[in-house]
Amino acid sequence: MNNLKDKENLVVLAIESSCDETACSIVRGGREILSNVVATQIEIHRRFGGVVPEIASRNHILAVDNVVKEAIEKAKITIANIDVIAVTYGAGLLGALLVGVSYAKGLAYAWNKPLVAVSHIKGHLAANYLGSDLIPPYICLLASGGHTAILKVEDYEKTELLGSTRDDAAGEAFDKVARVLGLPYPGGPEIEKLAKEGQASIKFPRPTFKSDDALYFSYSGLKTAVINYVHTAEQKGEELNRANIASSFQKTAIEQMFDTTMIAVEQTGMKKVAIAGGVSANSALREMFDSVASKKGLEVYYPPIKLCTDNAAMIASAGYYIVRSGADFSDFSLDAKATVKIGN
Ligand code: KG4
Ligand code: ZN
Repeated sequence: MNNLKDKENLVVLAIESSCDETACSIVRGGREILSNVVATQIEIHRRFGGVVPEIASRNHILAVDNVVKEAIEKAKITIANIDVIAVTYGAGLLGALLVGVSYAKGLAYAWNKPLVAVSHIKGHLAANYLGSDLIPPYICLLASGGHTAILKVEDYEKTELLGSTRDDAAGEAFDKVARVLGLPYPGGPEIEKLAKEGQASIKFPRPTFKSDDALYFSYSGLKTAVINYVHTAEQKGEELNRANIASSFQKTAIEQMFDTTMIAVEQTGMKKVAIAGGVSANSALREMFDSVASKKGLEVYYPPIKLCTDNAAMIASAGYYIVRSGADFSDFSLDAKATVKIGN
């Protein structure tokens, strides 16, 4: 049990460095963003077509100090106002995570503040609490570059994993398909843009699961089908309609996420649905959810676009609810982890 459990207006400073964004944010009461600074390395990794782990770690080291200073300045608070230091300890790139974890430990020690270890996955879910009125219980579709899963969020700290991907994550499929279409990294927003110029005229395969496995996902077959389609057309010397390919891929990809979420809604009888993770920035996915919301009497939540992809505000919010649940603080033996469990 921690000594801040009952503090409603808890101020959390959080650090996030699990992939290619060095971020620091200060959040009050779990929902009010006082500052949210993100230093992205996208331009650096773009020339390699994806994130290079060693380069990511080095750039986190260069950025972290300034990002934290800027977050404190922008929040217009003093160090004395900060109650807790939260940090992403996993899942992600080990070297990248270690930069944030080491820096957060240093801050906690120097400022004599308690430390909270936050899972990146819990963070993505918590992005839906920022500036919103969402309270559990609800069904959450988590779709990012590393994970695709469906969760039953019974309470802030009580989450059940209902199903996840058997192979690739949805975001990973967007990135790989973008690459084969000659689009830059990260592929998701590029596919979304190109898809708007085309028609979903190509039928790509969808996985079929047994009814017991109805809440699982698979993206490897779809990704391979698109790659084969492109290579076959190139070998035959046929001209590719890249916009139609992007549009057809996107439709197939998001229908799978949407349909699986609807099965979870029916199975659990829940009326609130939240979508989270980088892929939840996709406007076609949001439109699909919005279009059925009123018909099925569902309340649909998604974070503002800039809180869908990696940021530290979501880590601060998740850290807030961990503290409010009464969980013990972390000690200085806290280590980074490449993978973490989804759900309790
Ligand atoms: O959550 P996130 O920033 O990082 C991980 O935790 O993985 O997600 C990044 C993923 C990338 O695969 C990116 O292509 C995808 O989210 N993404 C999108 C969109 N914006 C980002 N996918 C589809 N449509 C988008 N608009
Ligand atoms: Zn993420």
